Amino acid sequence: MSTTKGMNLTLKVWRQKNSQAQGSMETYKVSDISPDSSFLEMMDILNEQLVGENNEPVAFDHDCREGICGSCSMYINGEAHGPVKGVTTCQLHMRSFKDGDTIYIEPWRAKAFPVIKDLVVDRGAFDRVMAAGGFISVNTSGNTQDANAIPIQKENADKAMDAATCIGCGACVATCKNASAMLFVSAKVSQFALLPQGQVERQERVLNMVKQMDEEGFGNCSNTGACEVECPKGISLENIARMNREYMSASISAE
Ligand code: FES
Repeated sequence: MSTTKGMNLTLKVWRQKNSQAQGSMETYKVSDISPDSSFLEMMDILNEQLVGENNEPVAFDHDCREGICGSCSMYINGEAHGPVKGVTTCQLHMRSFKDGDTIYIEPWRAKAFPVIKDLVVDRGAFDRVMAAGGFISVNTSGNTQDANAIPIQKENADKAMDAATCIGCGACVATCKNASAMLFVSAKVSQFALLPQGQVERQERVLNMVKQMDEEGFGNCSNTGACEVECPKGISLENIARMNREYMSASISAE
């Protein structure tokens, strides 16, 4: 049984009825919050309280609650996913805050991620960038080749796997002063460009994904590195450099 004292907190939460409405920060108090509860559990408690008072609960995205799906996008005290590095909001615990704290909770803010309601934003732009990348060519006739029979350099396999850990949460965009999506797009380009299976459409993929990224209204990368700092999965800026090389070489070949 936990004997830890619960925390009393003041929450300043962005409320916005819909994409057209003008939003504002509203103030709520929550009390006796266990330091062991997660940030989203604390939000659940707030919502139970609001429903009990006949008020509308705060809309926020969540699904897996274990750092996998990337949906729990929240800007907490001016940082994407809050003050702890390498975690998503659902992995953040209230022990990272102090009794009596005031916590500011806002949605991702980027032109390409319009607010749908309260803390929920539309990240469909990421889906469209992914879709623009298309499929990889796989020969499905005859017996399927054993994946282990395809030789892949260990360093490339590791880098591709690291890139593939991107969960598409959008923290990179939210934290970038230019709202650039380069870290996300470059991770998705890299995970295929580094593997033999991604070679057939390699050039087409990077050209199409970058085109879609620009059409969605994301900003340009000016190398501040904020995205890498705030990425809960530690996606490296090295991927952006790789995407730039991929893009240049594909552009020259396409001429
Ligand atoms: S709810 Fe899935 S990553 Fe947070």
